[in-house]
Amino acid sequence: MSIQDNFRLAMRRYIYSVSILSNKDEEGNSNAITVSSVTSISMEPPSLLVCINKNSRIHDTLKEGSKFCINLLSKDQEELSNICSDENKYDERFNDNNWNTDKIPFLGNAQANIFCKVDKLTSYHTHTIVVGMVEDATYSDEISTLTYVDGEYK
Ligand SMILES: Cc1cc2nc3c(=O)[nH]c(=O)nc-3n(C[C@H](O)[C@H](O)[C@H](O)COP(=O)(O)O)c2cc1C
Repeated sequence: MSIQDNFRLAMRRYIYSVSILSNKDEEGNSNAITVSSVTSISMEPPSLLVCINKNSRIHDTLKEGSKFCINLLSKDQEELSNICSDENKYDERFNDNNWNTDKIPFLGNAQANIFCKVDKLTSYHTHTIVVGMVEDATYSDEISTLTYVDGEYK
């Protein structure tokens, strides 16, 4: 097997938390994409990173200084995760009534909402590493996070 095959199978053994990154583009249109690559960086300053594929529709809207929200999903939000990771369901992504799109779009019933400003964009081959400076964070008291392992929700 190739290095890529072995690497893919090794990474499938990680347990990922599933989030949706949401934002608005410069025309005010809302965008959302399912992501598992969210990692906190530091508390000083509060910051996180997320890796975004350059082929995704949201990619070019993530400009330095622009705002976005990381919505950590609950176990009962698997369907929304599927919608936000299906290129054929782009038009359905904001049908859920729990979205608040007044300003930076966020999911009102997520496990957590982490509001960020893009601080740095680093290109790495197929992906861009987006560093977000955290401006606000909210969370639900009950912990029931949607997880993904070996290509399946758990
Ligand atoms: C559980 C899960 C995690 C994902 N994580 C990422 C990620 O971290 N970064 C990324 O660019 N795409 C990730 N994807 C793939 C995108 O969600 C998917 O390619 C999406 O359709 C791209 O957005 P678009 O359809 O608007 O172009 C993930 C998909 C799933 C199901």
